[in-house]
Amino acid sequence: MSTIYITTPIYYVNGAPHVGHAYTTFAADTLARWHRLAGDDVRFLTGTDEHGQKVEKSAKEKGITPKAHVDATSALFRAAWDELGISYDDFIRTTDERHEKVVQDLWRAMEANGDIYLGKYEGWYSIGDEAYFNEDEIVDGKSPSGHVVTWTVEPSYFFRLSKYGPKLLDFLRANPEFVRPESRYNEVMRFVEGGLQDISISRTTIEWGVPSPSDPKHVVYVWLDALTNYMSALGGPDTELSRKYWPHVLHLLGKDIVRFHAVYWPCFLLAAGWPLPKRMFVHGWWVGVDGQKMGKSLGNAIEPLHLARTYGRDCLRYFLMREGTFGTDNSFSEKAFIDRINGDLANDYGNLASRSLSMLSRYEAAVVPERGEADRDDDVLRAVYEGVRPELIRAMDELALQRALASIWELVRAANKYVDSTAPWVLARDPAKKARLREVLYTLCETLRIVATWTLPFLPDKAAALLDRLGVPAEQRTLAATATWGLLKSGTQTQPGDGLFPRIEKPAEAAEPGDAVPTAKPAKPAKAPKPAAEVAPKAAEPAPKAAEPAKPAAEGIIEYDHFARLHLRVARILTAARHPDADRLLVLSVDAGEAAPRTICAGIAVRYAPEDLVGRAVVLLANLAPRKIRGIVSNGMLLAAGEGPTLELLAVPGDLPPGTVIG
Ligand code: MSP
Repeated sequence: MSTIYITTPIYYVNGAPHVGHAYTTFAADTLARWHRLAGDDVRFLTGTDEHGQKVEKSAKEKGITPKAHVDATSALFRAAWDELGISYDDFIRTTDERHEKVVQDLWRAMEANGDIYLGKYEGWYSIGDEAYFNEDEIVDGKSPSGHVVTWTVEPSYFFRLSKYGPKLLDFLRANPEFVRPESRYNEVMRFVEGGLQDISISRTTIEWGVPSPSDPKHVVYVWLDALTNYMSALGGPDTELSRKYWPHVLHLLGKDIVRFHAVYWPCFLLAAGWPLPKRMFVHGWWVGVDGQKMGKSLGNAIEPLHLARTYGRDCLRYFLMREGTFGTDNSFSEKAFIDRINGDLANDYGNLASRSLSMLSRYEAAVVPERGEADRDDDVLRAVYEGVRPELIRAMDELALQRALASIWELVRAANKYVDSTAPWVLARDPAKKARLREVLYTLCETLRIVATWTLPFLPDKAAALLDRLGVPAEQRTLAATATWGLLKSGTQTQPGDGLFPRIEKPAEAAEPGDAVPTAKPAKPAKAPKPAAEVAPKAAEPAPKAAEPAKPAAEGIIEYDHFARLHLRVARILTAARHPDADRLLVLSVDAGEAAPRTICAGIAVRYAPEDLVGRAVVLLANLAPRKIRGIVSNGMLLAAGEGPTLELLAVPGDLPPGTVIG
């Protein structure tokens, strides 16, 4: 068991939370839930940043006190996180007395070390950023993030940041994990190597802040105030809580506030002689489809509560965790949102759950059967499970939430293939296959148990509902319980229930990229399957109703799951020769990342000479039924555009390994 203290930035209280805020918070919550699943001792902190000139100004404009203003907006954040299912252990406000006390302690400790002195601040200050900027950072009278700057002259206390540059560099060199991903670490290194200048840490022109303990005419600079929240929420550096959780810290933050966290914060702590946190993880920004900043122009499309109320909070969390890359910016569009939910949740995960549980209900009265007769298909699925588990754990250790989900989905998709290849509805028709059917149904339930447990941090409501239906006891809802295959008890009564993830009916306009305002409605959930006795066994088990389109599709339009049935793969041409019996054909051997090369007959001799083709990376339709063409069996088809002498084989970049999935 290990200990981890996960923090989000504390949010400015100048409006309701948007998708960007929800992203950091969901990511932190997902990590917190993951660590709890792993049995770790977790503390998860979030909160609000309530001091500063901006707040003072907006309160004045509204004609209310700053305190009344921050009480109202901080409550909006808290209520939003509660509604979104954020499992924070503590919610800190910089107006909390417990916080103000620790800010003053930090100031005193830095001062006692001789690192604070009185001077005069002259420079550009941006209220929008609550930050000072150097001359060379100002473009057209604005800060790099576009806020207006004003020339400010006032007496101010300074912090000897310059003194800590070399110490910080030593620390960063010794701890390359301190800032992740690596690109952000490098950015910080370059900045610190460039030399640090002392910074102003107090203001006299505002009142709304923590008074400096040595000179109450000054209030503490908002960033020194705000960063201290991570320590003040533990009661200071010398409490039972901080002895337990500090420095086992993971700060999550957006790319715009790296400098404050990775440069100022450690230097403040070094000056006070307080220990440094262990690591911080920096994510990119969510922007509108055209790169617009999150803000009023995007309307309610980016209000997390609106999205959660329309589609469900698990769907919102899943989308953000699955699509958000930690390294780069991400654009938010309704189309991408709906596609993800329909593809991954309704089709893949939802189908697997409803198919499996409804077959169990039909063939075994919804009771998990005894194990039966094993076969090769089981080994294939087990091998996927064995491979996914360590990859998932590795991805979560590296905070690669997106990769973690992709690896869980390998098992989900393999299990759906397992249903297709074992065809339980065919087994059910043959009394001699009873033992085989039992094994298949058991295997499906066990796979669902494992997938549901792994997805608890990503889909807390739905995964828990699935575990309830499977009858998995609370003490088995742990990461450790997914290390053993076969824990699900035979004889457990399950409950089939409605589809877990209703498909979202896609409004026509949602197909247009750029349409940011969600108008789609979740389709009605499928009805619970009928009891076993009422349902005649079918020749084939189609995907359950939950996955079917709510309205008949327009002519020629296919659903995503039709497309998903095509196995398009990268392949490399190893050899090429003319077909002995047909002038228009070439016989190729291609590497598709499988145990042995495949033979393909392709009608491309009029365009390509065999020697032109060797070494090319091409697109292979890998699951086309084998076909004998003039005596040679062709296993698949290469995709090409055009015809005859102008035909071109579709190419993919040569560095993609054979077998890479295209889709
Ligand atoms: N109050 C400071 C943080 C102090 S922490 C000691 C602050 N607040 S903020 O509300 O402006 O931003 C909080 C977090 O939300 C930051 O990590 C920021 O990067 C993140 N985001 C704000 N807008 C965002 C997007 N559009 N997309 C992703 N994250 C974004 O900064």
